[in-house]
This record gives sequence, C-alpha cells and structure tokens, in this order.
Amino acid sequence: MKAVLCKQFGPPSSLVVEDIAPPQLGPTDVRIAIHAAGVNFPDTLIITGAYQNKPPFPFTPGMEVGGIITEIGPKVTTVKVGDRVMATTGTGGFAEQCAAAEASVYVIPDSMDFVSAAAFPVTYGTTYHALVDRGQLKPGEWLLVHGAGGGVGISAVEVGKLLGARVIATAGSAEKLETARQYGAEALINYRTENIRDRVKEITGDAGADVVYDPVGGDVFDQSLRCTAWKGRLLVIGFASGRIPQAPANLLLIKGFSVVGVYWGSFTVHEPEKSRANFRTLLDLVAEGKIKPHVSATWPLEGAPEALQALIDRKVTGKAVITVRQS
Ligand SMILES: NC(=O)c1ccc[n+]([C@@H]2O[C@H](COP(=O)([O-])OP(=O)(O)OC[C@H]3O[C@@H](n4cnc5c(N)ncnc54)[C@H](OP(=O)(O)O)[C@@H]3O)[C@@H](O)[C@H]2O)c1
Repeated sequence: MKAVLCKQFGPPSSLVVEDIAPPQLGPTDVRIAIHAAGVNFPDTLIITGAYQNKPPFPFTPGMEVGGIITEIGPKVTTVKVGDRVMATTGTGGFAEQCAAAEASVYVIPDSMDFVSAAAFPVTYGTTYHALVDRGQLKPGEWLLVHGAGGGVGISAVEVGKLLGARVIATAGSAEKLETARQYGAEALINYRTENIRDRVKEITGDAGADVVYDPVGGDVFDQSLRCTAWKGRLLVIGFASGRIPQAPANLLLIKGFSVVGVYWGSFTVHEPEKSRANFRTLLDLVAEGKIKPHVSATWPLEGAPEALQALIDRKVTGKAVITVRQS
C-alpha cells in the first residue's frame, strides 16, 4: 500500500510517499480502507520531534481517518466488515490502509461523507470535552474562542453556540473571522490589529469572558488572563503560537478564575466510556444536521507535505483533508 513516511525529523518537505507492507492487526483492531485523512496541528509537530509522542522511524503521520472496515481482529465485537467509520489512530492515517483500535472507531451516519468524517474526531472530540466536561459551559455565558478560524477553533465556535453560549471569536485574518461569524460568533476580534483584553471588556460590559478556549497560547493567553470573568474557566487547549505561557498564581487568586488543562487524547484513555458517550452525542448532532466540519482544502496523498506546510503557514481555514480514495 502507498503511505507517507517520516524517516527522520524534519519539515514537511522531508516526507516521502512509498509502497510499504499493510499494517498488521491485533486481536482488537480493525483494518480500514482509508478514503480520507484529517490534517491536525500535532501532525506538524510530530514530524519535527516537537510533539509529546515520538514514534520510532519510519512512521506515517495522520491521526484521524474516514473509510470502510475491510477486516476485523478476532476479539472485535462492536463493528463489522463493510461499516462506514471514522477513527483516531495517533499515527498511520496518511496511507491507503490503517489498523485502528476498536475502541477508537465510530460508525458514521449515512449522511456523512468520508471527507467530513476524516475532519471530525480530533477537533470535535477535543472541543466537546473542553467545553462540556472541563469548561462547564452554560447557556447565556460568554465564550471567547481564540484561533477561531482554525480546526479546533471553528468547532468550538459551532458547538459553543449550539450549547447556548454567546461567542466572541478571535483570529488573525478577516477571512477566518468571517468563517467564525458564519459558524455562530456574534463578536469578532482581529488579534493582529486589536487588543483582545480591551475589546472583550467592551463587548461583555466589563465582565469578561466566562469561558476562554485557547489553542494559541503565547500573547493571546497573556491577554486572556486579563479578560476572564469572575469564576471564569480559561481552557488550555494548545500552543499554536509556539510559546507556552505562564499563569501567575496571584492573578488567579485576585480575579477568582481557574486555568483548566484539556488533553483530549488522555481523556479517551482515562475515561473511555465518557468519551464514547460524548461521541454518541456528537454523531447524533451530525445526523440531525446541526454540526458539520468546515473543510476548506483537500490534497491527494502525495500532497500531504503541502497540506502540512499550509497549516504551518496559517493558510488553512477550518480543516485540511488528505483524500486517499474516491468516495
Ligand atoms: N488539548 C488537546 O487535546 C488538543 C487537541 C487537538 C489540538 N490541540 C492543539 O490545538 C492547537 C490548534 O490545533 P488545530 O489542529 O486546530 O490547528 P490549526 O487548524 O492550524 O489552527 C491553529 C490556529 O492558531 C492560530 N495561530 C496563531 N499563531 C500561530 C502560529 N504561529 N502558527 C500557526 N497557527 C497559529 C492560527 O489562526 P490565525 O492565523 O487566525 O492566527 C490557526 O488558525 C494546536 O496547538 C494543537 O496541538 C490540542
């Protein structure tokens, strides 16, 4: 089968596409004929050695896929050959086939295409866990979403609005902000030209944001410390800006809000039942037509380096997807 390979840490241009043996199945694994694979920011980190997981070489990046099950391990009970599914894989997604653990495989609604399926589990899984489990977001609360035109960002705008929050979106371009507006943001802040703290105070009548969803970190996090409401929850999602910020304990004491860590991958391991329940809720929302990932660009398997570079260059609005087979 064809697969993208990372043979040494380096930029996207150092990746190659080669023919390799299909992956072996464990007893609780399924084989998926991959139709599409989602591109995520952690894929840009794992190939440079900057991610927390460092797989042995050579490895295939790609942490989420949509496709059809072609084989199941002897202990698999919940899915069958022929099922249309989405799955998270950690690595191995930028290829024609992957082996996925049964626990990370979800049958998708008939109405969901494989490109949408491939763009779904990481962003929506993270966002639902962040807003509901960690953020305790309530209807009517102000939700401030940073990097709101990115993969996890747009899903946070969309799901936050659906949960009844009033959403303020920040991003670095007019195009990304416009997309966030279409997904439900009622106030927009361009953080390249506007001060986040001042604008959030103005929009919320000085109260600040009740929940902050921050996948950017750096200066954006620093400004959030100054516009999170009393009893607010500042959710640490990631550090796309490249700088891991610090939260001064005195500020938390005086302003009475919490900084809350969110690591969806660990959540699925520590609380698998709760994670699957979250997915049942999310897939019901997909079937009802209430949520749909925003895929703005697709590339073929050979284009995986360009797709990753586009993400690094902040050129992707919503999700980029690798299309492996025609659906
Ligand atoms: N905690 C978890 O469980 C979890 C799960 C998934 C992802 N994440 C993390 O969430 C972050 C976003 O992931 P994603 O897949 O949504 O990425 P993405 O689609 O690339 O979105 C990231 C956004 O960050 C903004 N950004 C600001 N400074 C940037 C910089 N120097 N380089 C690149 N982007 C920059 C960009 O928006 P503008 O151009 O508008 O500034 C971009 O749209 C990553 O740090 C990722 O590791 C965490």
